[in-house]
Amino acid sequence: MELSHLALVCAAIAFSSIFVVSQAGITSTHARVSEPSEEMSLETFPPPAGYNAPEQVHITQGDNAGRAMIISWVMPLNEDGSNVVTYWIASSDGSDNKNAIATTSSYRYFNYTSGYLHHATIKKLEYDPSKSRSRCSLHIRYYSDLGQTYASNQTLYNYMSNPKGQAVLFVGDLSYADDHPNHDQRKWDSYGRFVEPSAAYQPWSWAAGNYEIDYAQSISETQPFKPYKNRYHVPYKASQSTSPLWYSIKRASTYIIVLSSYSAYDKYTPQNSWLQDELKKVNRSETSWLIVLVHAPWYNSNNYHYMEGESMRVTFEPWFVENKVDIVFAGHVHAYERSKRISNIHYNITDGMSTPVKDQNAPIYITIGDGGNIEGIANSFTDPQPSYSAFREASFGHALLEIKNRTHAHYTWHRNKEDEAVIADSIWLKKRYYLPEEETA
Ligand SMILES: *[C@@H]1O[C@H](CO)[C@@H](O)[C@H](O)[C@H]1NC(C)=O
Ligand SMILES: *[C@@H]1O[C@H](CO)[C@@H](O)[C@H](O)[C@H]1NC(C)=O
Ligand SMILES: *[C@@H]1O[C@H](CO)[C@@H](O)[C@H](O)[C@H]1NC(C)=O
Ligand SMILES: *[C@@H]1O[C@H](CO)[C@@H](O)[C@H](O)[C@H]1NC(C)=O
Ligand SMILES: *[C@@H]1O[C@H](CO)[C@@H](O)[C@H](O)[C@H]1NC(C)=O
Repeated sequence: MELSHLALVCAAIAFSSIFVVSQAGITSTHARVSEPSEEMSLETFPPPAGYNAPEQVHITQGDNAGRAMIISWVMPLNEDGSNVVTYWIASSDGSDNKNAIATTSSYRYFNYTSGYLHHATIKKLEYDPSKSRSRCSLHIRYYSDLGQTYASNQTLYNYMSNPKGQAVLFVGDLSYADDHPNHDQRKWDSYGRFVEPSAAYQPWSWAAGNYEIDYAQSISETQPFKPYKNRYHVPYKASQSTSPLWYSIKRASTYIIVLSSYSAYDKYTPQNSWLQDELKKVNRSETSWLIVLVHAPWYNSNNYHYMEGESMRVTFEPWFVENKVDIVFAGHVHAYERSKRISNIHYNITDGMSTPVKDQNAPIYITIGDGGNIEGIANSFTDPQPSYSAFREASFGHALLEIKNRTHAHYTWHRNKEDEAVIADSIWLKKRYYLPEEETA
């Protein structure tokens, strides 16, 4: 029954999509009518009922190794005892309760004052012994540029309808509060309520996008990333980073490095020297997969934000090839694109060799800026499709990466408004470090 249903859905897709195949790759002209990327009103997400009710709960990995979790929430009042998280071992009778005390803060932005923001780290969590790091398979979800429109809602609920996802990697641009007059900070609150049904139950890890900067000189708000840094904590000190905007975590057999497109990264800067040291720490016997998140894509053949990631690419790409990074996920461009394994590291100012070439040591670059935000879809691709681009489509959606073992991972991209079972793009990935063979989609 289930199988035949699936087959029918697939057939319908095959008929309704047209694929334009060029020498380079595939530009899908699939035009799926999505929910409007029109913002859901503030009234859609009122504060929860009840005296001093905690809200906007979200969790994120709280250390480098995966044995801690940061629990964050907001409360209207700061009262005795409202900063405590009580936790216990799932299988126990509750007699071994432990408490973690949260830090409490509030920030002002123009004429807005936030509620009391709490962040508590619970530590020394135990692994499920059946899932040791080397054996563990892992299902990770990716999206970015989510916002809080009807289309974003579709992305989120489409994602939640698939029980496979165990963690979310979010490649920047959360609330889009700064699209509103005076960067209306109430939009950060409504965003926190909107994502809570997922973010309170499984760890989301974030990279910062340009919408997190919230720099507004005209209203004297000149401290970049103020709302984001106050509301979304990450375990950056655990990876010896000096800024929450770049850090790393290990999850199962995957090492995840988060970079900041909007912080200095040239030689001699803190982010540059941190990354240099960080790459040396990756032990591929322990974490065989190496994944990088960065907001502005390095390989993007959309006319929107074209080449905005170029200077960072020039700075870091040789390191990524040398260290055999498996995948780089980016957001920013509101469409979907997957590159071939290519690099462009031979150029110097006299040799003129500035063409991306096939490179089996290079990462695959995936642009997943298609969460469904208020600015709508980026539907203008460069023509012809460049040789480095394998697949591109201007639809909203999200991706799933299923790490199977130390050599194989299955990657799929799901466009919105379709049964979660429908896969619009997929590829079996082979680990660069242990199995640097060519892959086919
Ligand atoms: C903040 O300023 C805006 C624009 O002047 C105004 O509409 C809003 O009511 C003010 N909010 C508060 C909390 O004072
Ligand atoms: C968001 O999507 C869910 C699932 O489809 C739906 O139940 C809910 O009503 C949607 N929310 C809004 C505000 O449209
Ligand atoms: C890398 O990890 C493996 C497996 O845990 C361990 O045996 C080895 O000593 C580690 N190598 C380094 C250089 O730490
Ligand atoms: C630039 O590249 C050319 C060709 O590979 C090489 O001969 C030359 O030494 C390079 N120049 C510098 C400054 O690295
Ligand atoms: C890893 O998974 C792939 C895909 O499921 C499978 O073909 C391969 O044999 C597995 N390798 C090992 C060592 O288990």
